Amino acid sequence: MIEMQDVWKSYANGVMAVNGITVKIEKGEFVYVVGQSGSGKSTFIKLMYREEVPNRGKIIIDGTDITTMKNKDVPFLRRKLGVVFQDFKLLPKLTVYENIAFALEVIEETPRQIRKKVMEVLDLVKLKHKARFLPSELSGGEQQRVSIARSIVNNPSVVVADEPTGNLDPENAWGIMEVFERINDNGTTVVMATHNKDIVDRMKKRVIAIESGMIARDDKRGDFGYEG
Ligand SMILES: Nc1ncnc2c1ncn2[C@@H]1O[C@H](COP(=O)(O)OP(=O)(O)OP(=O)(O)O)[C@@H](O)[C@H]1O
Ligand SMILES: [Mg+2]
Repeated sequence: MIEMQDVWKSYANGVMAVNGITVKIEKGEFVYVVGQSGSGKSTFIKLMYREEVPNRGKIIIDGTDITTMKNKDVPFLRRKLGVVFQDFKLLPKLTVYENIAFALEVIEETPRQIRKKVMEVLDLVKLKHKARFLPSELSGGEQQRVSIARSIVNNPSVVVADEPTGNLDPENAWGIMEVFERINDNGTTVVMATHNKDIVDRMKKRVIAIESGMIARDDKRGDFGYEG
């Protein structure tokens, strides 16, 4: 599903953020990515959705080599891979419904398909009743659920998330984690960078720990492993 082969990434200022990562994530896995601040978690995730391009190495997402992919084909990657951020990134002037429909309209769906798919994902995140609300009228947890709904509306085979609970209180963080579990139960691969020790320790999922841009630990039923 996701394969990285000897991937290296340094930034223009010379910082070496990812230093020779080789990893394989199978279809349907749920993986936490942990590590100290600055260890390279976000860079690792950004390489997966081609926000960053590696200096060296190969990255394959669901059979597509995204390192040799043309820029014009990057929007198609979004059908395979949904992305969730810490700060939601919702469009403030669009309603909940429109924020999600917008992601579909880009790939030319019919109005009927749009309505059906948007209502389905809103149902999954339990926000059907707030379809007409603006993001500013929602709580942080609700906004993040909208952003997750948007990330899965194209039915991607992978969802990657960079600290999706970073702005939320513990109760909302657990609510978000339940949504990701439901998505994973439907067969979608989930990769999530997080600083949330409680959640990682209790979920007993695969844990990849990154230190200095390298994989320091990769456990099938792992824990957080250090004091966040
Ligand atoms: N756009 C950039 N330009 C230059 N250096 C960067 C850039 N983004 C990140 N870095 C550097 O790359 C290294 C890894 O950063 P990254 O954001 O991947 O870490 P992280 O593990 O996600 O940290 P955090 O837990 O704080 O989010 C750090 O030294 C950081 O300063
Ligand atoms: Mg980060």
